[in-house]
Amino acid sequence: MHYYFIKHLHVTSAALLILFFIVRAFWSVTESAILQKRVVKILPHVIDTILLVCGIILAAMIGAHQPWILTKIVALLFYIGVGTIAIKRGRTPKTRAIAAVIAVLIFAYIVGVAINHNPASWLA
Ligand code: HEM
Repeated sequence: MHYYFIKHLHVTSAALLILFFIVRAFWSVTESAILQKRVVKILPHVIDTILLVCGIILAAMIGAHQPWILTKIVALLFYIGVGTIAIKRGRTPKTRAIAAVIAVLIFAYIVGVAINHNPASWLA
């Protein structure tokens, strides 16, 4: 498949992921029951899988041995860890709110790494 088609899918799913994350984090902090709905629980995993699969395909196409790609994978793991605190593991609304802000910052860092092809992200 065409490189730019997969790249487009990758970037679109990244945008959807962060938008949907912010909405879920809001529901989590305000303790909304919507968060327990099946579609709200499953959709992020679907989006995340598309993001990851497309990312891996892109990495394979341009050669995965680049430091910035490894950085993205590691940062994505941190994003997921902090993200689960924001959405469910954090005990108080305050903990979840702080975790949500950190997750968004990690996400912004990843986008900087992607655009500049450099682990120094936006500072590169
Ligand atoms: C939350 C996680 C991620 C976000 C927000 C993200 C975001 C992005 C963005 C915005 C681009 C486009 C950069 C540009 O237009 O120059 C991109 C490209 C790319 N991403 Fe990701 N990405 C993520 C995870 C991953 C992962 C886990 C991998 C590898 C396994 C990966 C591999 C790539 C590759 C190879 C490109 C193509 C770079 C290019 O053609 O210039 N991404 N990513």
